[in-house]
Amino acid sequence: MSEKSDFWTRVDVVGVTGSTNADLAEAARLGAEEGRVLLAEEQVSGRGRLDRRWESPARAGLMLSVLLRPTLPRELWGTLGIAAAVALESALREVCGVQAKLKWPNDVLVDGKKVCGILAQAEGGAVVVGAGLNVSLTAEELPVPEATSLLAAGARTLDREEIAAAFLTRFAAEYRTWQEQGPGPAVARWERNSDTLGREVAVSFPNGRNLTGRAVGIDADGRLRVDPGDGAVETVAAGDVVHLRPRA
Ligand code: BTN
Repeated sequence: MSEKSDFWTRVDVVGVTGSTNADLAEAARLGAEEGRVLLAEEQVSGRGRLDRRWESPARAGLMLSVLLRPTLPRELWGTLGIAAAVALESALREVCGVQAKLKWPNDVLVDGKKVCGILAQAEGGAVVVGAGLNVSLTAEELPVPEATSLLAAGARTLDREEIAAAFLTRFAAEYRTWQEQGPGPAVARWERNSDTLGREVAVSFPNGRNLTGRAVGIDADGRLRVDPGDGAVETVAAGDVVHLRPRA
């Protein structure tokens, strides 16, 4: 890779696997060290947030996972997804010339459509952070109308190796800052590039409950603060967010 941080200890590339997150979670259970990276040309059981699947045609997406062993308290580990989203936004801007925005908790959007999803899962004493980026998918290959790709966005490069290296360099730097200073700096960067804050949103909770209101902020733990209009701001730790209309 042309640009690569010295933080990553081992980078493996496989042709096909079930899920790079599942593979590194298994490696973590077996005691693998921090800094492992796994990229797959194709995943046959890619995992998404909230038990969804992540689908991408072979070699059209960047599908990678990293293994981290944070020393900060476990309740902060969820914010590593935010740190990854911030790193990806920076890589897309600087390497691909694409202006992306961030949707809570850690989706990356271009022109209001999802170009990348991030899944952070704790496994024993480790966290596996996986990113799925739609690179060269054509309009016909996009899984849902709310998705887009770097091809559709007119990115100046679709070189997955170059984009992966740029992301890994930036994520290593974000992670070092996160370990030294906590999630504050990543959360602040997320807020500056947020497409969610200030908008009317609908939140679906895993238990089936729904909430609508204005997204007014995220707290230091990365939870979304939603004002339903009566001033009783609610803090959302996990859920699916839909942007209802542009911010006023
Ligand atoms: C989401 O938006 O729901 C998160 C999607 C995360 C997908 C990536 S692809 C690489 C890694 N391996 C997986 O099985 N999932 C993540």
